[in-house]
Amino acid sequence: MSQAKVLSTLLRIQSRGITTTPKALGHYNIEALPPKSREIIKREMKVTCNNYSALPAVLCKGEGVYLYDVDGKKYFDYLSGYSSVNQGHCHPKIVEALIKQVTVLHHTSRAFHSDLLVEYAEYVTKLFGYDAMLPMNTGVEAAESSVKIARKWGYKVKKIPANQAKIIFCENNFWGRSIAAVSASTDPTAYDNYGPFVPGFVNIPYDNIERLEAELKDPNVCAFMAEPIQGEAGVVVPSDGYLKKVRELCTKYNVLYIADEIQTGLGRTGRRLCVDHENVRPDMVVLGKALSGGVYPISAVLADRHIMDVIEAGTHGSTYGGNPLAAKVAIAALEVLEGEKLSENAEKMGQILRKGLSELDKDIVISHRGKGLLNAIEINNNRVDAFDLCLKLKENGLLSKPTHDNVLRLAPPLIITESQIYESLEIIRKTLKEV
Ligand SMILES: Cc1ncc(COP(=O)(O)O)c(C=O)c1O
Repeated sequence: MSQAKVLSTLLRIQSRGITTTPKALGHYNIEALPPKSREIIKREMKVTCNNYSALPAVLCKGEGVYLYDVDGKKYFDYLSGYSSVNQGHCHPKIVEALIKQVTVLHHTSRAFHSDLLVEYAEYVTKLFGYDAMLPMNTGVEAAESSVKIARKWGYKVKKIPANQAKIIFCENNFWGRSIAAVSASTDPTAYDNYGPFVPGFVNIPYDNIERLEAELKDPNVCAFMAEPIQGEAGVVVPSDGYLKKVRELCTKYNVLYIADEIQTGLGRTGRRLCVDHENVRPDMVVLGKALSGGVYPISAVLADRHIMDVIEAGTHGSTYGGNPLAAKVAIAALEVLEGEKLSENAEKMGQILRKGLSELDKDIVISHRGKGLLNAIEINNNRVDAFDLCLKLKENGLLSKPTHDNVLRLAPPLIITESQIYESLEIIRKTLKEV
């Protein structure tokens, strides 16, 4: 654990105390909600772990780019299930694949083979140009699997002394909530009170090639893992050429480059993978979220044989990973992305969206950034809190969520049309006038 991490944890605990009340409740009056929504939220809070500051939208139906709540209100979905519903809600082809397969064979475990895992693995490896795929379920499992593969590669191939392997991560990284993931995190909200932490993780600033090179010189470094655009950190886009330089340096120092494309991948940024913007080929690619179109938890690690083969039978696994249902759903989700040219649509619609965002009231929207349909606006906190702005956007028919106190992510499903972009920009414009 870095000294800075320990210090910031202590400061946070001393200054703010430990809060168990969801932040959202301080922002809206639950009694003012329509009766159905109010009752459901109250019931939910009694019987669930309140680990999310949810917006008070109680959803019961999704269709394309739209969500509907229990009181019959319709919304544009500008979060897309944290960028998993790239193909839109209830995409008929993905839903059909799920329904057909669930009545035939849904789960066997990998104690046996199935006729579909091979079909899925052949499809996904050919599409992305890697030799092999490791199927997992959630994003954090796939990211953690890539960390395990990298460490093992470090010992078996790079000959790093036992238990000395290091992995470099960037500050403000986010790859999930496991102990390993929060050990790599520099965000106190993610790691406070979850120690002791996993050793061997080093944090450097994002988009800083000099610091990366300095750390890569350590012969015990086995991998550098980063998102090509930092999503949860607030859609932080690195300088042009950063990914290329990362690739060159990792090759130079014999270190594996792991691209966490769980949020940026699968068309979201206007390319199949975000690294495609710079024609970069990482040693490992981690996929999740839209790999199922938000229909089912499916994730994967892609790598070539000489890396993947460090994992021997029995040394890693997952009960559900690669089950026939997941295989069928993932193929359908990828076929939709390719068949409907969703990367191309994300690129086009993203440009229209950002042009609209650049014309918003600069007194409230200080800046905007993004690629394809992974975008964010930075809010002037003196004018309005980002969470409060989300509440007002919700009232006007658009759902989004802040990534930080002053950053609001705008990431609709990639099937969105030009007229729907203009309609949603109009909602944003109208809402800004009201605050
Ligand atoms: C870049 C990135 N990696 C990993 C994860 C973790 O995925 P999951 O929540 O499916 O475990 C996320 C989730 O937001 C993410 O954005």
